[in-house]
Parts: sequence; C-alpha cells; structure tokens
Amino acid sequence: MDKLVIEGGVPLHGTIEVSGSKNAALPILFSAILLDSPFSFQNVPRLQDITTTIRLLRMLGLSCEQEGNTVRTEPGALNPEAPYDLVRTMRASVLCLGPLLTRLGRARVSLPGGCAIGARPVDQHLKAFEQMGARFDLEGGDIVGRCSRLHGAHIVFDMPTVGGTENLLMAAALADGTTILENAAREPEVVDLANFLRSCGAKISGHGTGIITVEGVTSLSGESYSIMPDRIEAGTFLAAAGITGGKLLVKNCPFAELETVVGKLEQMGMEITNSEEGVLAQCGKAGLHGTDVKTQPYPGFPTDMQAQIMAMMTIASRSSIVEERIFENRFMHVPEMVRMGAQITISGRTAMIRGVEHLIGAQVMASDLRASASLVLAGLAAHGTTHVRRIYHLDRGYEEIEKKLNAVGARIERVEQ
Ligand code: EPZ
Repeated sequence: MDKLVIEGGVPLHGTIEVSGSKNAALPILFSAILLDSPFSFQNVPRLQDITTTIRLLRMLGLSCEQEGNTVRTEPGALNPEAPYDLVRTMRASVLCLGPLLTRLGRARVSLPGGCAIGARPVDQHLKAFEQMGARFDLEGGDIVGRCSRLHGAHIVFDMPTVGGTENLLMAAALADGTTILENAAREPEVVDLANFLRSCGAKISGHGTGIITVEGVTSLSGESYSIMPDRIEAGTFLAAAGITGGKLLVKNCPFAELETVVGKLEQMGMEITNSEEGVLAQCGKAGLHGTDVKTQPYPGFPTDMQAQIMAMMTIASRSSIVEERIFENRFMHVPEMVRMGAQITISGRTAMIRGVEHLIGAQVMASDLRASASLVLAGLAAHGTTHVRRIYHLDRGYEEIEKKLNAVGARIERVEQ
C-alpha cells in the first residue's frame, strides 16, 4: 500500500487543471448499457473507480477500453450478473441495476456494503423500481431483480438521493410510458447524466430541479460526449490555495456549480475571481477566519467538500462549526487532524473547530476518499513532514493529485510501503 510523504509549509503558486468528474463519469459510463451504438466518452478521469467500472461493464457484456481520458464502448450480448468481488469495491456499481432492468428485465447485483462514511442503503432505488414493475429477492447477499418490462410511474423519493435519481433516470429512459421523479437530486452530475441521455435521444425535462419527467423511448444511440469537470476536485484545489496561503489559477473549474463552496471560502477570507483563463484563488491579507457549514443536498454545501473545508478551519482564526447532515459517519478525518495538533471536538453530527497557529506534521491514516484529500491539505499546511497512509482511497477520486500539486510548489512524494 502506497503512502504520500508531504513536506508542509509551502504556499502553492501557479496553474492547476481540473479533470473530468468522477461522479458524473460513473453513471454516464453505466448508461452505455442502454446504448445500441458504439460510443466514445471524452474527458473521463483516469481513476481506480473508472477502472473498476470498465471491468464491470466488460463482465456485463460490453466491449470497453480506456485510452488516456477517452473511454470507448460497444454494445454486446448482456449478462445480468454483477459479481460481488467487484461490486464490494465500489458501491456505485449499484448503478448497473437500472440499465440492466430496463434493457434485459433481469439483474443480479450484490447488495453494496456500507462504507466508512455510513450504511449507504439502496432502499429508495429498490422501492422506485418496484413502482415501475420490478420485483426483488435477496439471494445470498445479492439483489436479484426481475421484470417483464418497466413501466412509467410517479416516484417520490423520501430524500434527494443522487444515486437513486441517476438509477431511475437511466431505467425510465427506456421504460414504457412516462416517469416522474419527485424530490429528485439536483446535483450537477445528475444534470450531466440527463444531458448525456438527451444527446442519445432520451426525452427528459426538469433535470436540475426537484421534479424530473422522463418519456420512455425505444432506443438510445449517439457518438460521443464529454464529461463535465469535477467540481469537488476543483473545490479541493481552491482549498489548497487557501490553506497554504498561496495563489492558484484553477483551469476547467465549474465555477457556477461551486457557488455555495466559493461563498463559504470567501466568508473564510479567501479572494476568488472567475475569468476567461480560469478561477483565481488566494488567501486575503487578513488570513483565514472561521465560519459555520452545514452539508446539504445541492445547491447546499456539498458533503464531499466537508473534510476539505474543515482542514482549512483548523488553522483559521476564531472557531468554526461543521454539521454533517448527509452521512452518519463522515468525521473520520477528525482524529487524524487532532494528531496533527488540530483542536476539534465532536458531538453527534456536529464538529466544533478551534483554530490553532499551525498544524504539525505527523503519521496519519486515510479512511475514505474525501478524508484522504483533507489530510493531504492539512499536510501541505503543516510544519514538518506528514505521512498519509492508505492513499488507495485518494486514488479512487483524484487523478494524479501529487503530480498536479507538485507542479505548483508542493513537496509530495509517493512511497511504496
Ligand atoms: C453520491 O453518493 C456520491 N457518489 C457521493 O460522493 C456523495 O457524497 C453523495 O452522492 C451525496 O452527494 C457518487 O456519485 C458515485 P445519496 P450516493 O444516495 O448516491 C441516503 C464521493 O466522495 N439514502 O445521495 O450513494 C444515504 O444513506 C462520494 O465522491 C438512503 O437512505 O448518495 C445518505 O444519507 C462519497 N437510501 C443520503 O441518502 C437510499 O436508497 C444521500 O445519499 C439512497 C440514499
């Protein structure tokens, strides 16, 4: 298992580029199951989760190759079974349910286990598919779904679920009749999926709002589509400029989709301006000061940026309060930051951060994707050397992060352990 060794205390300066969005690419690649044509997906990040998805698509019967940031797929005879040893490594594999059910009328997917940040149930997905005519049995840890032909339904989600909205969008695109998704997720990645499906002939409206309407069609095909930039990677780079007291020009930054994040970073004293060349982010002269954050569904503050902004709060003047309202256990980065000298106390889903003068480098352990990103940020700002272990978590969602950060002045080395 690799680790990153980070010499901290260096303000980052220069230009850094955002890759394609992991959380848009995953559902869009699973949508290849719906297509009757070969397809070329552009701006796909090279990440562990993408590799896992490509392996899974091949096992489901598609031809699928990644070359650089392009993924090419070709339809094939579909196999309805997604094997446990792949699904257990990536919970997003559950996104093959919708496409398989709507194309094949059958699907066997191992029930995605929880992960470090929470139980991550899929009850909303299954309940909605049942409304469309699917029936499910649980067989040896696998969800086995069957249906003659999915039909349209009026679905009201109990909470705005990103994966649930995406799974049902894909299923409804080829279902018989009209489907309405109410209390749908409004995340930009859901919108990117809807835009991709529309480019292949799907009849979707209302995406980006809480009510999405889909008129089922009989087939979907197209040639190519470019994945949107990754707003969470972009937000992580803005935070890197702030926490190191540097100045970064972030290219391909989806500025409009980061409005709430930019607002909070400016409340903390950052100066962030959008221009033709990209988004310029730097720390104001007064340095960082604390603020309060509650994570919420889009367009609220994204839970995927919670750990990263908390890293900034650990060295901001005054105190901050962070409320994690989406996942029940998304503070695993806290004990690791405390090892670096941060002053953080947790009460349930609320963390109270009291800023300190500076962090001190230490050996820390990554526990999930965004926690590992926050520990890299903390290491960049700390005095001394930080070892971030178990960075396979990081490699799931950040393309060549140490290469990108070293190019703007960071001193990070990847060491085989
Ligand atoms: C997506 O996960 C993202 N993953 C997550 O990003 C992100 O944190 C999350 O949305 C919230 O924005 C991908 O897009 C691949 P949800 P997802 O369904 O779809 C509950 C990252 O770091 N829920 O919107 O799994 C659930 O427990 C990852 O890139 C149910 O109760 O999230 C959670 O509390 C981490 N039943 C809330 O809804 C269900 O059937 C939101 O979950 C589904 C969800």
